[in-house]
Amino acid sequence: MFNSKFGSIPKFYVRAPGRVNIIGEHIDYCGYSVLPMAVEQDMLIAVEPVKTQTLQLANTNPLYPDFSTSSNNIQIDKTKPLWHNYFLCGFKGIQEHFGLSNLTGMNCLVDGNIPPSSGLSSSSALVCCAGLVTLTVLGMNLSKVELAEICAKSERYIGTEGGGMDQSISFLAEEGTAKLIEFSPLRATDVKLPSGAVFVIANSCVEMNKAATSHFNIRVMECRLAAKLLAKYRGLQWGKVLRLEEVQTKLGVSLEEMLWITEDALHPEPYSPEEVCRCLGISLQELRTQILSPNTQDVPIFKLYQRAKHVYSEAARVLQFKKICEEAPDDTVQLLGELMNQSHASCRDMYECSCPELDQLVDICRKFGAEGSRLTGAGWGGCTVSLVPADKLTSFLANVHQAYYQRSDRNLTFEKQSLFATKPGGGALVFLEA
Ligand code: GLA
Repeated sequence: MFNSKFGSIPKFYVRAPGRVNIIGEHIDYCGYSVLPMAVEQDMLIAVEPVKTQTLQLANTNPLYPDFSTSSNNIQIDKTKPLWHNYFLCGFKGIQEHFGLSNLTGMNCLVDGNIPPSSGLSSSSALVCCAGLVTLTVLGMNLSKVELAEICAKSERYIGTEGGGMDQSISFLAEEGTAKLIEFSPLRATDVKLPSGAVFVIANSCVEMNKAATSHFNIRVMECRLAAKLLAKYRGLQWGKVLRLEEVQTKLGVSLEEMLWITEDALHPEPYSPEEVCRCLGISLQELRTQILSPNTQDVPIFKLYQRAKHVYSEAARVLQFKKICEEAPDDTVQLLGELMNQSHASCRDMYECSCPELDQLVDICRKFGAEGSRLTGAGWGGCTVSLVPADKLTSFLANVHQAYYQRSDRNLTFEKQSLFATKPGGGALVFLEA
């Protein structure tokens, strides 16, 4: 296909994997550690550097039209999350990191098998893959940590205020192990998953593109406002505080104590923008222009109490999950499953990032043998991840397939990838011709 598109053959190939987040949802952008693993599904790009300053992109999937632009005038349209914009994010991130305005052009053919809009991070995999393609074409070097940080930052050109989980695991993943990803400074530590149980991904078949709506950014802003109100309540300099983790670190208290402080400082009733302004002593104009992102400026209510409760409790669950994996008591699988179930309940009730289909799917998964089941990724659609004892896997797959997928009203475009067991896969790679 590369040959028929560009009349030449590729000089090298790059792959970057998608991921499944086992536990730790919507807390990376609050500064807290998360526990994902790479999946085997990935983005793969065939590349030929060219002397002209033209970037030509094609996709093996005819749903994604060809795209071409001058490599020294990259424009990323935030209003429409078109596929090639994710490539441009990675490209521009590397270009800016090295302060280069004159980049050589390239011909790229993109191929991928991560179901899009399913919470398995196909978009970040494309950003990371494009970043590594660009670095390779330039003949430059960066560490995986630097690459992950650049790509996390540059994906925000698309307009979403994501954390760094997806890009970090795409670069730092290693086959056979999940990773605890910590931020500031970014690092990844191996987490040995229990033998005797498998993680199964199931797609609810409800598509959710986090760049196409404001759901995601509203949550990021609610956490930001909660952090500021908590900081002010405890007499801290709140002006520069952006993340809930900063409040905990500055106060030097435990996550459990942060949950108590949240109870005291915030109320469960939603906050209007006016009330937020009164609490912080700022004007509506300042709230809109200095704190909120462009697509959240007209949000009528903010649920600060619920979001902070989710974040602090979820951050604690991640640490408990890691500890149980390390200590491996006899009932490891059951304990991990319970934490996953609690995580789902918190996402559903406190963070409100689930949907009826995801709730139904986790119930079905638990009914047919999962010790734990939860939504994974941003939510509002996409996939669930379930922890299933290995000896129950065959019947689990058959029963869940029957109960959830054999209904005519599901959109089964990605049927093959709708329900599958997965193991921790490896990170991004460059394949060069020998
Ligand atoms: C998306 C974002 C991540 C993370 C998850 C939710 O995948 O890109 O940074 O916030 O949602 O956990």
